[in-house]
Amino acid sequence: MDISTSGGSWNEIGCNWLIVGFTESTDLSGPLGELDNALDGSVSRLIEAGDLKGKLAELLPLHDAPELAADRVLFVGLGKQEELTRARFNKAMMSAVRKVSSKDDVSAAICFDGAAVTRIGIAAAAETAATAIIVGSEGQDSLKSEPGHYALSAASIVVADSDDAEVAAAVERGIILGESINLTRELVNLPPQVIYPESFAKRAQTVAADLGLKVDVLVQSDLEAEKMGALLAVSQGSSSNRGPRVVAVSYEGAGEDAPTLAIVGKGVTFDSGGLSIKTSDGMITMKCDMAGAATALGAVAAIARLKLPVNVVGYMGLVENMISGSSYKLGDILTARNGVTIEVQNTDAEGRLVLADVLNYAVDQGADKIVDLATLTGACVVALGEEVTGAFANDQDWCDTITNAAAVVGEDIWQLPMFDHFGELLKSDVADCRNIGGRWGGAISAAKFLEKFVDGTPWVHLDIAGPSFASSNSSHREGGATGCMVRTLVEAAAALAK
Ligand code: BES
Ligand code: MN
Ligand code: ZN
Repeated sequence: MDISTSGGSWNEIGCNWLIVGFTESTDLSGPLGELDNALDGSVSRLIEAGDLKGKLAELLPLHDAPELAADRVLFVGLGKQEELTRARFNKAMMSAVRKVSSKDDVSAAICFDGAAVTRIGIAAAAETAATAIIVGSEGQDSLKSEPGHYALSAASIVVADSDDAEVAAAVERGIILGESINLTRELVNLPPQVIYPESFAKRAQTVAADLGLKVDVLVQSDLEAEKMGALLAVSQGSSSNRGPRVVAVSYEGAGEDAPTLAIVGKGVTFDSGGLSIKTSDGMITMKCDMAGAATALGAVAAIARLKLPVNVVGYMGLVENMISGSSYKLGDILTARNGVTIEVQNTDAEGRLVLADVLNYAVDQGADKIVDLATLTGACVVALGEEVTGAFANDQDWCDTITNAAAVVGEDIWQLPMFDHFGELLKSDVADCRNIGGRWGGAISAAKFLEKFVDGTPWVHLDIAGPSFASSNSSHREGGATGCMVRTLVEAAAALAK
């Protein structure tokens, strides 16, 4: 999609919806004052009446504005100016875009007073607004006969200086981020009979071909040759036409000698739990269990389109976790790619088995730094809630790079400890380890399990079981896939490039 930047008086901007962002305690000077004059003082009257407060993400539509070139106005609160962050600005923009995109064939222009966003900077504001235009106008209901959201027919972001090259570049970046987030969301939102390992791999090949990226797809026989015994065990309960895939998409933005970042994603396209079967309620959203792989693909696509000077490979471990006569069993002892033997005590702890082999493969392929993303544990959601990503690491510097990147883009992330004793929970009497660590600290023992397979390479594990999938729609965010961590990964890759 195209998003233009324009300047000029807000009164003269022709579009269906003029979205006007303003902070609390605005003094109606500047462009908002001009708008008030054009509207014959109705903005002041709304403020006086207490109908227009500027509270964060509060919306007030004005459906009839014959004085303006725009058909309608949507006021959106930005909250207190001194509290404005990128995350808060994003929430406001998302709410506004979601509101105006509920009908087809709508054009919109977003305006906000430059002074109101000085805390985050005009470039960050423009980037965030552009991303919100793309993400906020796409729903999870592409298969409904009447979807709830439609891409805008035209959109612009209004800034004081429309020739500002920095702002134009920021909008361009915002568009790429938005489209990449939507790629991740689309893959996660599609139903599990549409997205399975083979179809996901095909889609990854298409994305790679469009961007001129190298792509490798390993099928069952390749994975056997690679001795990926842990990943293959998870997949063995699936029908033969739903066999496993490992996909690697490479982007070389720096020289051959530059270090390589591996982004590894858990891609369980449906998690029934296997023989340790989930409850029906627990299974309803388990199409989302490939969100890590979809995030890896979205992030690599974004990094490549942004031409960041960095080498990145996205690895996607794609399987279903199903039940049949050939399913892997409790008590099975698997041999992972690196030779570690694993006693299976719960077939629902499958994500770590998939990642074990893919992480180890990434190390052997020459990864210098690794970040993995996985909807790995319900325990992480218990610990941090539905909105926060858990971070776990064997290297504090690399973890700081990721958490700092998250802070810059306004995504919520929290590091959990990796004390040795959590690793002891994985001891087995019959194998090198078992695949569960007991009831307490389950997100950490899962991370301790993964750590065995990265061979000391600087590594950060991101557990996105909570934030990658929202249970219901809300005014600022569509339910279903969120595309969380795409922005963070792009920002971290940019930091590595420096
Ligand atoms: N895919 C689930 C984790 C999950 C839970 C993701 C809720 C998204 C929302 C994972 O494979 C799983 O089942 N984990 C088990 C591990 C346990 C058996 C040690 C869990 O969290 O219950
Ligand atoms: Mn599971
Ligand atoms: Zn799972």
